[in-house]
Amino acid sequence: MVPSRIPLRGNRPPPPLPPPLLLLLLLAVAVRDSWQAGEKTCDLLGERDRESEKERALLEKLAPLYDLSFESSVGQDSEAYTYKFRVCREAGNSTSGAGLVQIDKKQKETVVGRINETHIFNGSDWIILSYKGGDMYDRHCGREKRRAIVMISCNRHMLGGNFAPVSEERGKVNECFYLFEMDSSLACPPEDTHLSVGSVLLITFASLVAVYVIGGFLYQRLVVGAKGLEQFPHFAFWQDLGNLVADGCDFVCRSKPRSGPAAYRGVGDEQLGEEPEERDDHLLPM
Ligand SMILES: *[C@@H]1O[C@H](CO)[C@@H](O)[C@H](O)[C@H]1NC(C)=O
Ligand SMILES: *[C@@H]1O[C@H](CO)[C@@H](O)[C@H](O)[C@H]1NC(C)=O
Repeated sequence: MVPSRIPLRGNRPPPPLPPPLLLLLLLAVAVRDSWQAGEKTCDLLGERDRESEKERALLEKLAPLYDLSFESSVGQDSEAYTYKFRVCREAGNSTSGAGLVQIDKKQKETVVGRINETHIFNGSDWIILSYKGGDMYDRHCGREKRRAIVMISCNRHMLGGNFAPVSEERGKVNECFYLFEMDSSLACPPEDTHLSVGSVLLITFASLVAVYVIGGFLYQRLVVGAKGLEQFPHFAFWQDLGNLVADGCDFVCRSKPRSGPAAYRGVGDEQLGEEPEERDDHLLPM
């Protein structure tokens, strides 16, 4: 075993495949090619292994739209057109490889762009899909091939829809285009579910307060057997704190000396019969 491995380490060509494996491989390639020929899809610029990774990733992202078909009509009378659009699939009836066609009133189809000349790029909440290689202009734009540009904007409420023509630019000497727009959730940035540190702290604090209040309430009521406001945990402490804060506020915020209520208190104490609890307290044996 060991001596036979040593030559493999050199740069010699690998040994030929045994015939059955070779046959299987040929079969696999043939099947793959025929399958690819059967289903036309978007073809990006460059050979299969030299395509842009970004473009390919974006096309894969749009895969859920492949099965949908979009249609929109504009204009009136002789200028009435219907546009049909599909993502990476043939639109319209003809087998011309069209991804976006324009159909006039006499049902004549004009290919605006073909899926074998697809270009695609994106931003934070939009994707632009462009099909080139459409039918040639008759007079405009230096008789170049038509081109379709579809701007797909983020809309979290639909997988795909609101397809509509925006404008047709054919006043340039060349580089003309048909512009369309549509909505799709696939163009949206991933939703940010991460909470900020501040909100995490806030939620933690709120939960702790809730646990303290509810737990303390239950403890005071069931274990200590408190009634009324006394059920509130550490009621005396919070009352003291409240008074303290009120005093502090009184001291800091009040501009005039607090004379009015004190005088009133001194005069009216007996007449009004105030603070029965305080008087009760004196009677209690401590
Ligand atoms: C795309 O397809 C059309 C018609 O099927 C063909 O004429 C054209 O050369 C193709 N373009 C590319 C880049 O292969
Ligand atoms: C374009 O789409 C890719 C893949 O979904 C994404 O990673 C990238 O952030 C997008 N580009 C911009 C500018 O948002």
